[in-house]
Amino acid sequence: MPAPEHTSSAPARIVLHDVSVTLDARRILEDVSLEVDAHRIAVIGANGSGKSTFARLLNGLVKPSSGSVHVHGVDAVARPAEARHRVGFVFSSPDAQILMPTVAEDVALSLNRSGLDRADVTRRVEQTLAAYGLIEHADAPAYTLSGGQKQLLALASVLVRRPHLLVADEPTTLLDRGNARRVGNILIDELPMQVVIVTHDLELARRCDVAVLFDRGRVQAVGAADEIIGGYERMFV
Ligand SMILES: Nc1ncnc2c1ncn2[C@@H]1O[C@H](COP(=O)(O)OP(=O)(O)OP(=O)(O)O)[C@@H](O)[C@H]1O
Ligand SMILES: [Mg+2]
Repeated sequence: MPAPEHTSSAPARIVLHDVSVTLDARRILEDVSLEVDAHRIAVIGANGSGKSTFARLLNGLVKPSSGSVHVHGVDAVARPAEARHRVGFVFSSPDAQILMPTVAEDVALSLNRSGLDRADVTRRVEQTLAAYGLIEHADAPAYTLSGGQKQLLALASVLVRRPHLLVADEPTTLLDRGNARRVGNILIDELPMQVVIVTHDLELARRCDVAVLFDRGRVQAVGAADEIIGGYERMFV
């Protein structure tokens, strides 16, 4: 997979200052301050601790009620369109992300507003489908793919745009061990861009450089992934 297209001098840094998020009068995140520039970042913590809300802040899908969010130098609150352009986002339920009748069309849709001409779009879609083992399914309806293949398609549709940062929210939750390992290997070893992985799979989280542990809407710990995860696991014994 080639490096991101719009190379910029902005550092690969995620910076939150005193971020609080209130939704439906409920405080979801409380005074979250965080600065990370690691290549692979795991986000862990209990159900409902605020991980997905944090992930959605990064590409402007969720607005903080106070505080600031900067991703690679872009103010995600003031400029959500630019944040979305730079930050690719993959959910755990790939069905929600599959929009077009065929696999190739679905990936091509992501390049709709890229300014690339048809030949370049076709070439880039083919390269991407080949990279994710989907080329023989290019003309198949997306609903005929297996769960793991749909997850790969969702990843391919996001990565074809070559984002600067990929945020994956529980990317392996629905996958069998083989596909979970395959997607995990792509996320950890193969992508050139910075990757944030929200996950309950501590084996995958441990392969990241840094882990951020959320607890009841706050960041409880940030540090080397093996240390943070070791401490988190000890909470359950
Ligand atoms: N749109 C919303 N309106 C009201 N409450 C919300 C909304 N979105 C999330 N919440 C609440 O915020 C809290 C944190 O949710 P979030 O989805 O960020 O947790 P999470 O750490 O990703 O959990 P999980 O591991 O279960 O995915 C939960 O209590 C959830 O019910
Ligand atoms: Mg979640």
